[in-house]
Amino acid sequence: MSRTTAKEDPITISEVASIAQRKLPSNVYDYYACGSDEQQALRRNVREFDRLLVRPRVMVDVSSVDTSTSLFGVKYPMPLGFAPSAMQRLVGENGESDVAAAANELGLNMTLSSQSTTSLEDVSRENDARPDSPDWWFQIYLTQDLERSLPLIKRAETAGYKALVVTVDTPVLGNRINERRTPLVLPSHLRLANFESASTPALKERKPTMNRLFMDARTLKDAQSIAAVAGPTMHSSSLTWETTLPWLRKVTNLKIILKGVMTAEDGRLAVEHGADAVVVSNHGGRQLDCAPSTIEALPEVAEAIAGRIPVIFDGGIHRGSDIFKAVALGAEFVLIGRPVLWGLSYKGKEGVQVVCNILEREFYRTMALAGVTDLSQITKASLAVARRDTFGLSRL
Ligand code: FNR
Ligand code: LAC
Repeated sequence: MSRTTAKEDPITISEVASIAQRKLPSNVYDYYACGSDEQQALRRNVREFDRLLVRPRVMVDVSSVDTSTSLFGVKYPMPLGFAPSAMQRLVGENGESDVAAAANELGLNMTLSSQSTTSLEDVSRENDARPDSPDWWFQIYLTQDLERSLPLIKRAETAGYKALVVTVDTPVLGNRINERRTPLVLPSHLRLANFESASTPALKERKPTMNRLFMDARTLKDAQSIAAVAGPTMHSSSLTWETTLPWLRKVTNLKIILKGVMTAEDGRLAVEHGADAVVVSNHGGRQLDCAPSTIEALPEVAEAIAGRIPVIFDGGIHRGSDIFKAVALGAEFVLIGRPVLWGLSYKGKEGVQVVCNILEREFYRTMALAGVTDLSQITKASLAVARRDTFGLSRL
């Protein structure tokens, strides 16, 4: 599986990932690659894709296959965008700027993490040069005191981001064992650029964040006393349907996309409370370790939402056929997290483009071999699973 040529010219995402694993310092690689606890959700996200089989239809004219799609009125060459991931300058010198330049050149959607090592203003400038620039979104962890999040929301609006991706699966950080064993410390030349200004003196020794202290507390009592002191700046553990969405609607006209919806109940509530879209996501297996994989959760969320708002999907995508399967189960759009980081490590901006080109070729090929010519034809009818009771296939 981890074949690489002598010239390191990868032709699969797994090969790009192997190169990244060799190149990155182990604490950085571990931070990016890991899931929480026993990493079951992380493995499940990838494994469950393999259970889905694509039923190939033949004698269909596939000489012209259209992989493009539209989301919120914007056309994209394929239903693929970049998930927000923190601190990308740890991977490549230009971090978020390279990722943004790659997205811009390919006309792809990307979401910038609020925990970026390049400021949201600097990243948005990458998109200015292009007249038909793709829409970009900004991810936010709302703070316990919502008003403290307001300046960041206003900055994202001013900088031209079109949506707020509000991460709702992180009322507390998941138990990242590797981070607890070998805490990742930002080197002194890097900063969390949306929170620390360029004139903030380089820190000789960075203090662990409150979120990490909370994660690391050995007793519940310690955790609770950290939460009590750190209240205003920590990720909010008090988001609710009744209070958070109305507040967001009041303070911003940006589209509001809830990231981390995993159940039919919450899909329905998201629509009822006026979210513009949801992302079916388990945070790349970094939060609740016994959560279902996202591809297993997708059908119930898509069914509950029933086309009323777009369903976006992330988790485990590393082949074009994975994109096909997610679309077949009701996703209008998918995001990739780690593959972007592996591409960035492999070759900066060009490496991110290599990742997208691989996925685009594979997605196109899967469509052609399945006998579909555009996204509207990718439905559950394209899929099957092996029967468990006897030999043969069950249709979905
Ligand atoms: C993330 N993710 C994430 N999500 C978010 O809302 N804000 C963030 O800052 C981050 N940071 C982050 C860092 C790293 C290293 C990883 C791996 C992930 C989660 C991310 O947006 C996405 O949900 C998953 O990465 C999708 O799974 P795959 O594509 O990595 O399997
Ligand atoms: C993570 C946080 C930043 O997953 O979302 O590492």
